[in-house]
Amino acid sequence: MRILREFTQADETMKKVLAIYPGSFDPVTNGHLDLIERGAKIFDRLVVSLLRNFEKQPLFSLDERVEMLREVVRPWPNVEVDVFSGLLVDYAGLRGANVILRGIRAVSDYEYELQMAMMNRKLNANVETVFMMPAVAYSYLSSRLVREIAHLGGPITGLVPAVVEERLRAKIH
Ligand code: PNS
Repeated sequence: MRILREFTQADETMKKVLAIYPGSFDPVTNGHLDLIERGAKIFDRLVVSLLRNFEKQPLFSLDERVEMLREVVRPWPNVEVDVFSGLLVDYAGLRGANVILRGIRAVSDYEYELQMAMMNRKLNANVETVFMMPAVAYSYLSSRLVREIAHLGGPITGLVPAVVEERLRAKIH
């Protein structure tokens, strides 16, 4: 009995946690990167997963967003980039992921995120949503604001990785 319990405990300790970090990433910001870094430390594997959204008209194509993300996640060997469509929980199930990682910057994010987490739990109770907070310096940062500032010719240095800054300038000017 004791041996069995020890085995079970060992199994539990060896459990590998694969987390999905889903989003639009149009484009990836330094806030996203901050969360990826935190997620990469906590989870065994982290899959940054871009939603293939046929309704939205993004600034960057899916391929461009994937390319930029692949470049910026290179420092973390346990992080990969993937694309999904359909229900997030179905995709998580297909990937064998037990965690969805989402960032919460401020209380204003919480309501929407809570609603999504609860609905995802209803759809698949085996997938747990984990919230992490980015550094305070990124608490006001969003892809939407970055796109707007870039469109209007404002400075985006420090808000996005260098590769994104270059691509934004090339796209907008
Ligand atoms: O970065 P975003 O745009 O806030 O990410 C939103 C995303 C991709 C996480 C969300 O729209 C999503 O999960 N879409 C997949 C479709 C789905 O599962 N919808 C039900 C959510 S409860």
